[in-house]
Amino acid sequence: MEFLRLFHTAVLLLSLTWSTEADLFSKATRTKADERDLRNSVFDFIIVGGGTAGCVLANRLSAVADWKVLVLESGDEENIDYDIPAVPTMDYRPILWNFRTERNGYSCLSRPGGSCEVRTGKVLGGSSVVNDMKYTRGSKADYDGWHSTGALGSLDWKFENLLEYFKTSEDNGDYDILMNSFYHSRGGEMRVQKFKYVDRYIEVFSNAFAEMGFRNLDINTNVPEAIVFNQFTVSNNTRLSANSAFLKPVRHRKNLTVMKEATVTKIVIDKQEKNVDAVLYEIEKGKEKPAYVKREVILTGGAINNVRLLHLSGIGPTADLKKHNITALFDLPVGQNYQDQVSTGGLAFVLNDVAPVTENQVINDFKTWFQNRSGPLASRGINQVSTFIQLYENTNAPDVELALEGNFIRSDKFMLTNVSVHAAEESNLPLPYYNLVNIYPVLLKPKSRGKVMLNKRNPKYGRPVIQANLLKETEDLDTIVDSVDIALQLLDTKEMKKAEVKFAPLDLFPCDRLTNRDQWNCITRHYTKAMGRPVGTCRMGENSKESVVDYQLKVHGIEGLRIMDASVMPTHVRGGIFAATMMIAEKGAKMILKDWKENKGHYYNR
Ligand SMILES: Cc1cc2nc3c(=O)[nH]c(=O)nc-3n(C[C@H](O)[C@H](O)[C@H](O)COP(=O)(O)OP(=O)(O)OC[C@H]3O[C@@H](n4cnc5c(N)ncnc54)[C@H](O)[C@@H]3O)c2cc1C
Ligand SMILES: *[C@@H]1O[C@H](CO)[C@@H](O)[C@H](O)[C@H]1NC(C)=O
Ligand SMILES: *[C@@H]1O[C@H](CO)[C@@H](O)[C@H](O)[C@H]1NC(C)=O
Ligand SMILES: *[C@@H]1O[C@H](CO)[C@@H](O)[C@H](O)[C@H]1NC(C)=O
Ligand SMILES: *[C@@H]1O[C@H](CO)[C@@H](O)[C@H](O)[C@H]1NC(C)=O
Ligand SMILES: *[C@@H]1O[C@H](CO)[C@@H](O)[C@H](O)[C@H]1NC(C)=O
Repeated sequence: MEFLRLFHTAVLLLSLTWSTEADLFSKATRTKADERDLRNSVFDFIIVGGGTAGCVLANRLSAVADWKVLVLESGDEENIDYDIPAVPTMDYRPILWNFRTERNGYSCLSRPGGSCEVRTGKVLGGSSVVNDMKYTRGSKADYDGWHSTGALGSLDWKFENLLEYFKTSEDNGDYDILMNSFYHSRGGEMRVQKFKYVDRYIEVFSNAFAEMGFRNLDINTNVPEAIVFNQFTVSNNTRLSANSAFLKPVRHRKNLTVMKEATVTKIVIDKQEKNVDAVLYEIEKGKEKPAYVKREVILTGGAINNVRLLHLSGIGPTADLKKHNITALFDLPVGQNYQDQVSTGGLAFVLNDVAPVTENQVINDFKTWFQNRSGPLASRGINQVSTFIQLYENTNAPDVELALEGNFIRSDKFMLTNVSVHAAEESNLPLPYYNLVNIYPVLLKPKSRGKVMLNKRNPKYGRPVIQANLLKETEDLDTIVDSVDIALQLLDTKEMKKAEVKFAPLDLFPCDRLTNRDQWNCITRHYTKAMGRPVGTCRMGENSKESVVDYQLKVHGIEGLRIMDASVMPTHVRGGIFAATMMIAEKGAKMILKDWKENKGHYYNR
């Protein structure tokens, strides 16, 4: 039965891809090599995207002895350069998708081309190779908001039911944090810990926040406000991406195949049966190859790329697809409900008397890291401190993270008026050498909603249209500006005065003539920063009008297709989304095991 279906699919696909070779699978002319090729391109599970969620899933599914698993990833292997914690993540451009938001009249106005860069990783490990590695889970209220409709299936997503999945992956290395065993655990694949290296200004800034009344707490214990000494996903002072934590250790498994530089361009669906037969992927542009699936295809391409693939496959809003002459097989709101966390540049502080670091010292520090995994490069400087603030009383959760990042500016500090916001942000030395501190007020739970669509001229290879609509809702702007007021109060603390930390008078053109709130409104609209944490485009929910997947992460109306990454989050969690994405993959893997092992696949009735 199964074989027949596959055979049927193979023929169908061949006529679709290389019709001239359609006799390849007719039994009479089939050679042994052809048969091997066919057998080798059949998998129980196909994971589309070897990113954050994809690596977790690859590990969990290939642990089942009789399952054959394929991972298809557009990017290449992870490189050791990205392992050094202190290398600013700005330097990771070669392994990024080149995504930008569309121009609009109200955000990213002074960024190049009037649009914001949206950074997401294109490499095994995905965005977990290019991110800041901060381990923050968000608040209980966020997860509880995901199931507020009370639909039965949604109750699985109550925060209290999710904790076990966070803890499955976690290997927490800090005893003060681990003591709270309700929230934390050890023994999982993902090492999480603080850096030991602490410099003078880490102390100055955290003391100043303490003077303002914030307390030093573990943000992952459902507290609304805290000074946080961030925990990072590092092991032996080396970046631990989802790839190095979950995929690398199991690459030897015979039944796991990882294909690099392979981009999936189509999901092949049997229209009658409404189930997924195969995917087409390209290693060389224009040369599509099939991979057939027996059980399920799982999308983990992230909130932007999933949209492109689904739309190209005829899954999306009918009106959007029609513009590209693509017949909508399934009319689903794929690409809608786009959200990204948002911040602004321009809020910077100059440090007093920081001696410029010499080239020799930097070289020695690199040597120390490579030989002993220690020294200043085994840290992220002031990035180790964040302060989460609750501005409004409505929920027991933070509204903004004041995220700190150091930079070294080679300029007379009294002439900083000549330094552009761009120059203040573009790090030219590793993070621990800094004489300027940027404070990014990160809006954790944006109200604005955007949309992702196919590229108009080149739907298959061109970068998708991202109408991010950052700051479209005035409330989002107001929250950021309210938090800037609080950040500026730092300057009034005894601690900052003693250390002679000053406000950095950057060149804020065209906002330089304005004052107070008008000025910060202007700065935020001009120097907007998209955080590169997109969610929501394949949101989960009850029905196919408002959501793309159900609470089992199955695409509405299609058998054998699930989505298990950040794109299914209906809204942001108030923190980064790295930990939450791993949790979704852990939970998803458990669902698959349950359906196919405990229920013996009868759920699928294939
Ligand atoms: C600069 C930056 C800093 C960040 N810092 C933090 C932080 O400190 N803490 C935090 O919690 N979060 C942070 N984040 C966010 C977080 O890391 C990501 O949002 C999260 O890892 C996304 O996981 P994902 O699995 O959804 O997608 P990704 O990890 O991006 O994985 C998607 C993968 O799929 C591949 N792919 C896509 N389409 C296809 C296709 N058609 N065929 C084959 N392969 C495909 C991609 O190449 C990619 O490898 C940061 C993000 C950025 C960009
Ligand atoms: C899959 O891998 C597991 C673990 O390495 C192994 O026990 C099993 O025999 C493999 N199965 C197949 C079909 O290769
Ligand atoms: C869609 O098809 C119509 C009619 O065949 C054609 O005129 C139009 O140019 C096509 N549009 C695109 C985007 O391919
Ligand atoms: C690494 O540590 C060893 C032992 O402490 C020391 O001798 C060596 O100099 C260190 N290497 C570097 C480059 O710091
Ligand atoms: C950390 O990395 C260094 C350099 O590769 C290595 O010598 C050391 O043994 C590692 N330590 C641990 C605990 O893995
Ligand atoms: C700063 O700008 C002023 C006016 O444009 C110019 O005269 C001065 O030389 C600049 N200073 C530096 C350090 O570039």
